[in-house]
Amino acid sequence: MYPPRYLIPTQSTTDKQASAPCLPAMFQQAFLDLPPIASAHGEVTLPGSKSISNRVLLLAALSHGATEIHDILASDDTQVMRESLKTLGCEITETGTNQLRIVGIGGQLQNKTAKLFLGNAGTAMRPLTAALTLMATTQGGQFEVSGVPRMHERPIGDLVDALRQLGGSVTDLGQAGYPPLRLGDGDTHALQLDAPIAVRGDVSSQFLTALLLALPLVATRDVVIDVVGELISKPYIDITLKLLAQFGVHVQREDWRRFTIPAGSRYTSPGQVFVEADASSASYFIALGALGSTQGITIQGVGLDAIQGDIRFVEAAQRMGADVTGGPNHLCVKRGAWPLKAIDLDCNHIPDAAMTLAVMALYAQGTTTLRNIASWRVKETDRLSAMATELRKLGATVDEGDDYLRITPPATPGEWRPAAIDTYDDHRIAMCFSLAALNPAACVVRINEPHCVAKTYPDYFETLFDVTTPCVGQVPVICIDGPTASGKGTLSQGVAKALGYAWLDSGALYRLVGVAAEQAGLSTTVEALADPAHAATVGELARNMAVRFEGEQVFLGGQDVSAAIRTEAAGMGASRVSAIGPVRAALMDLQQGFVRAPGLVADGRDMGTVIFPHAPLKVFLTASAEKRAERRYRQLISKGISANIDGLLADLKERDARDTNRQHAPLKAATDAALLDNTDLGIEESVQQVLSWWQSKQRKT
Ligand code: DC
Repeated sequence: MYPPRYLIPTQSTTDKQASAPCLPAMFQQAFLDLPPIASAHGEVTLPGSKSISNRVLLLAALSHGATEIHDILASDDTQVMRESLKTLGCEITETGTNQLRIVGIGGQLQNKTAKLFLGNAGTAMRPLTAALTLMATTQGGQFEVSGVPRMHERPIGDLVDALRQLGGSVTDLGQAGYPPLRLGDGDTHALQLDAPIAVRGDVSSQFLTALLLALPLVATRDVVIDVVGELISKPYIDITLKLLAQFGVHVQREDWRRFTIPAGSRYTSPGQVFVEADASSASYFIALGALGSTQGITIQGVGLDAIQGDIRFVEAAQRMGADVTGGPNHLCVKRGAWPLKAIDLDCNHIPDAAMTLAVMALYAQGTTTLRNIASWRVKETDRLSAMATELRKLGATVDEGDDYLRITPPATPGEWRPAAIDTYDDHRIAMCFSLAALNPAACVVRINEPHCVAKTYPDYFETLFDVTTPCVGQVPVICIDGPTASGKGTLSQGVAKALGYAWLDSGALYRLVGVAAEQAGLSTTVEALADPAHAATVGELARNMAVRFEGEQVFLGGQDVSAAIRTEAAGMGASRVSAIGPVRAALMDLQQGFVRAPGLVADGRDMGTVIFPHAPLKVFLTASAEKRAERRYRQLISKGISANIDGLLADLKERDARDTNRQHAPLKAATDAALLDNTDLGIEESVQQVLSWWQSKQRKT
């Protein structure tokens, strides 16, 4: 799942990548610098809803019969649910993209003991705790559920109390009232279903959802649940009830206080289920439209008729000034009032999406108050305190109450601050703060640990970059030039991966021209290319090459040439065609077109001197010819290609001489390039050196 697609150098791909040494984990991206965004426009198809996906997975698993689930979310939280269900003996098959077939266990335990690790997925922990306790108690099983350290700080005691009232066996394995827990004691016990079960509704609605999902498994008589305290997040209960009905269980609801599961309830698969897109995820793009789109952002997969409560975020956004229209499965959002209007809102019905309102408040005139959000304190992190801290970093004045936030934006553009946003392993903090990149001061916004979005939206940042236009000249390019086999490709990939940038391997483009010329029957000898008319023909060919990059493959006129461009002969051909002016001119625009947010690492011979002369960081990488020949030798041998080190050294020197002495864009260090000789450096040290140069450049700007 992670790294997200934007990390993969989709535009410049060659088998160099496949043969590059595996990069150490230390190059995993620690932060993502978002270039300032000027505007937004385009269409977004959202991933499936987390809440619906995990409920449907569990319901399908508990049902009689098989269920085909369409548009299911693929993310960390659904992955832990899937793994748990498999451990419990459920058969799950992938039948298409985001499509699964689950054969249900019909409420009968297949495995009576298991240890389940549930990460930080509340939507897995709560319902599985309830369902497994009831099944283990009545069928004689014993299970353990645990999660990441934060999960062991998220309360579950109110649910455990309710399960114990029923006669369920639940043992605290750590701090009382928190996971990890042991469910069942291996023996069978009768449940006490005759008295109403009391459950608190004012801490998390997930406790009630968990009971509603579990009790139909044991409803030999009418089972009544009474909610104690004011029920929060009612729309999530509504989702639970609607999905239960789809699986054949019709709960009677009296007000939001009493729920009755009818005697004889039984889960039956509806055959097929379609998962709605995630309405909370929609909030980021609704906000993006309201903040930065005059032409509109179209959001596919969720419409105004969505069953998820967070769809009511639309009303809140409209109150702030968003222009929203929509139909059954889509929304279209544009800037309406600008600046936005401050609001004072009870957000109890949209707890997750309300975090997005907190960031929109930075663009409002006046102070925005978000009330009744105490549940934020028991989510992935203490969101009330985290949001206040991070909003302040950007220059806002924030009053953090027990259950409210009051946000006053920076008074002038000059009061915005470039900030490094901590994300606390909380996907929603990472996603909502990306909207700060629209700030009027054009400050770079750093998102620390950006991979946390994988909890619900692994491709979030790539989607954001697809529909936004950065401010002119604000997307950074790092150039890494140097002679053949100096290790530019491996170094560039390491730097690109660490920063989340795209990668351009410009040598691959010249290799493509050489191969395309051969295929077209055009000679690439030095003598033939010396003829200006012939050189012009090869230049035309370079300009019109039908080249397509797809993942790790390169296609020329529909033919996969990934391996063909990597041979030694193709390297020599590239060196010859790259010496002529018409070819260099033809590839200029193509190379410059590779720049995209959040940044580009470009490697070649003239990245810093000709193609990106204004790049903020240029590196000239060298190593002794002997060392380079040795590296190339090892690379070829590891691929099973026989090689001769003396021959390689001679070829390499010939290429060095031609690349350096040619008339057009000769290989040389840009005057402002930093020199890096990696003859005696490992890849990790080289990457670290470039990253530290990059950091110090940024501190200066
Ligand atoms: O980096 P490489 O070995 O894949 O490059 C192949 C040839 O392409 C190299 O010998 C010179 C040429 N080249 C160039 O002239 N300018 C670039 N920016 C990249 C490569």
